[in-house]
Amino acid sequence: MGIIFHEKEKQFHLFNSQLSYCMGVCPDGELGQLYFGRKINENQKITYTQTKGVRPLCCNLKEDENYTKELSMLEYPAFGNGDFRTPAYEIKQKNGSRVTNLIYKSHSIYNGKKPLNGLPASYTNTDDEATTLEILCVDEVAKVEVTLFYTVWEKYPVICRHASIKNAGDEEVVLTKALSLCLDLPDVEYNWMQFEGTWGRERYPVERSLSNGTTQIESMRGHSSANYNPFVIVKRKNTDEFMGEAIGLNFVYSGNFVAQSEADTYGKLRILMGINPRWFEWPLAKGESFETPEVIISYSNSGLNALSQSIHGFMNNNIVRGKYKNTPRPILLNNWEATEMDFDEEKILKIAKKGKEAGVELFVLDDGWFGKRNDDYAGLGDWFVNTKKLPEGVKGLAKKVNDLGLKFGIWIEPEMVNEDSDLYRAHPDWVLAAPDRVRSLGRHQMVLDFSKKEVVDNIFDQLYVVFADANISYIKWDMNRSITECYSQGAAAGVQGMVYHRYILGVYSLYERLIKAFPDILFESCASGGSRFDAGILYYAPQAWCSDDTDAHERIKIQYGTSYGYPLSMVGAHVSASPNLQTGRAIAIGDRANIACFGTFGYELDLNEISEADFVEVKEQIKFMKEYRELLQYGDLYRLESPFEKNISAWMVVSKDKSTALVAVYKNLKSPNEGIVRIRLKGLDPDAVYTVDEKKELYGDILMEGGIQVPDGDKEWFFADGDFTSRMYILKKNVTK
Ligand code: GLA
Repeated sequence: MGIIFHEKEKQFHLFNSQLSYCMGVCPDGELGQLYFGRKINENQKITYTQTKGVRPLCCNLKEDENYTKELSMLEYPAFGNGDFRTPAYEIKQKNGSRVTNLIYKSHSIYNGKKPLNGLPASYTNTDDEATTLEILCVDEVAKVEVTLFYTVWEKYPVICRHASIKNAGDEEVVLTKALSLCLDLPDVEYNWMQFEGTWGRERYPVERSLSNGTTQIESMRGHSSANYNPFVIVKRKNTDEFMGEAIGLNFVYSGNFVAQSEADTYGKLRILMGINPRWFEWPLAKGESFETPEVIISYSNSGLNALSQSIHGFMNNNIVRGKYKNTPRPILLNNWEATEMDFDEEKILKIAKKGKEAGVELFVLDDGWFGKRNDDYAGLGDWFVNTKKLPEGVKGLAKKVNDLGLKFGIWIEPEMVNEDSDLYRAHPDWVLAAPDRVRSLGRHQMVLDFSKKEVVDNIFDQLYVVFADANISYIKWDMNRSITECYSQGAAAGVQGMVYHRYILGVYSLYERLIKAFPDILFESCASGGSRFDAGILYYAPQAWCSDDTDAHERIKIQYGTSYGYPLSMVGAHVSASPNLQTGRAIAIGDRANIACFGTFGYELDLNEISEADFVEVKEQIKFMKEYRELLQYGDLYRLESPFEKNISAWMVVSKDKSTALVAVYKNLKSPNEGIVRIRLKGLDPDAVYTVDEKKELYGDILMEGGIQVPDGDKEWFFADGDFTSRMYILKKNVTK
């Protein structure tokens, strides 16, 4: 790994064993992109990717008639001086001009990586893990300095980028766009993969071929959203799971975003990612800076699965922080689907007690424990216990749950307020609301104005009291509506374009303060399920509730899609009651567990209500999970058969030392006299013998090349009645004597 500057040619080469990222100073002084892809010789000076020669209608500088920005690949392009593609930033100057031109000025290279101010970001555990390049570019007229940051990592094929924009002049300038990166590529032979959906069906992978023009996904909801995840893949058209080139872009941010690609009519591709410029206006007074969030660029030339594995490793090691980093997660029992808000202490303790009997480790009390919260019309904002339900407070209940031998956690939704709450009655001006307009509701609630420090302070103070008083090990931090009427009451007109971003900064600051005050608490993020599932939130909450859709069949698709951009350790997945609350579909308890175990695992039902036979199975499931959770949460994941393509889907996890693997096969619909499916495994040691399900002994190579056959003389699977069944195979490498 390293960063080389070829002084004479003014070229930078960032590399590790798997990738190279090359840039150079263009003839007019702007920073240009030269090459990004598989590792090339770091002594290579690159000339061919910057096209020379001006075509008709292209514009050029008087000083160099042979060079035009329009045909160049640029690192942080402006609009207004010859490049007609979408710019990475825009600055409105006092005289009304938006023309800018950033010229390379200087750079520095150092070991390690600096933190971003108030923003989540990747970090180094030791300085030798990464090298950072800072490039200072200046617009002499607008007196704006832009620093572009690039960090290349030793262990992962990953480059992290962000930018910082400073007003170095005397007059105010206004940023109307400040994306985190532009990545120009020299051809357009790529497909675009996005991860889309809505409530209950988040992150379905959708692929399309890029043709001329722009392709864009975005969020303007104030959170990253279930509709479009801030993670995209740009891949070669023939790239599949196990071969071909792919580039991943994870935005380390939880608010409004845009991810865009623009194929131009000269055959080049521009990729952009950053904070959504719609409704964004950030004034910079003399000396002030704006720092963009970070983008993680990952690279693979051996398929999508390898790309995902790099992202998983990188996030587990360089994004997740705190006590639960690389640590198996507690098996929990959550009361939401069992009781919703209709509970008292006795009911809760009865559920918790049965959980303990089954072997769970953590009990989570969901929504409804605070204020006047008996339905979703009241209570949000009042973070003090409802003593009608819990006479001895959260503290008393936590103690009783602890006495059962379980850890205790609670649900909060700190960014919201109900009209019927003490907080709203006292501070109606603390919600986001535009003057003289309706205050749109979502789930009967309004969004607190987290761009205001006093609001965040108030919520912190309230939560601090609850968290400090009771023995709380876990917090489920929910967020159940999108932002509308985004206006900060009482704030000046000129700062209203800052509110969306300031809101997210407020969320991050509350997380940071709570994490600092309570470092042992495990935070789980949630937003009506998976509506704020992004690399930014992962920096604070090491796991996130994947979806409110707990139907196991649906979950295969959701979790499969999620796995492209996020590690299994992040995926909140629980076994819930059957028939399922969201779909009415009945699935056997074993099959429900076979999907939930590819995640943090837990139960979302009243175990008192299930049959004795199911309860016996639950105990076995928990035993199984305790034995294999490290593998299931941190092993190498291989996606084998996609649930979006076939009736049978499959994936597997392999331990880092290849000694143990778990293979899960899921079948959707049963048909009579069905055909035989062969599933070729991955990631095993080809020369080792594996015992499969304590029965067969097979070499890793035959398991990978020949595969396992479903059904394989396996009566149970073959004759199993009904739909939505599954099968888990346990593979253990034989110890050589
Ligand atoms: C959201 C969450 C659920 C549950 C409810 C409680 O919908 O996604 O898991 O916590 O809120 O109101």
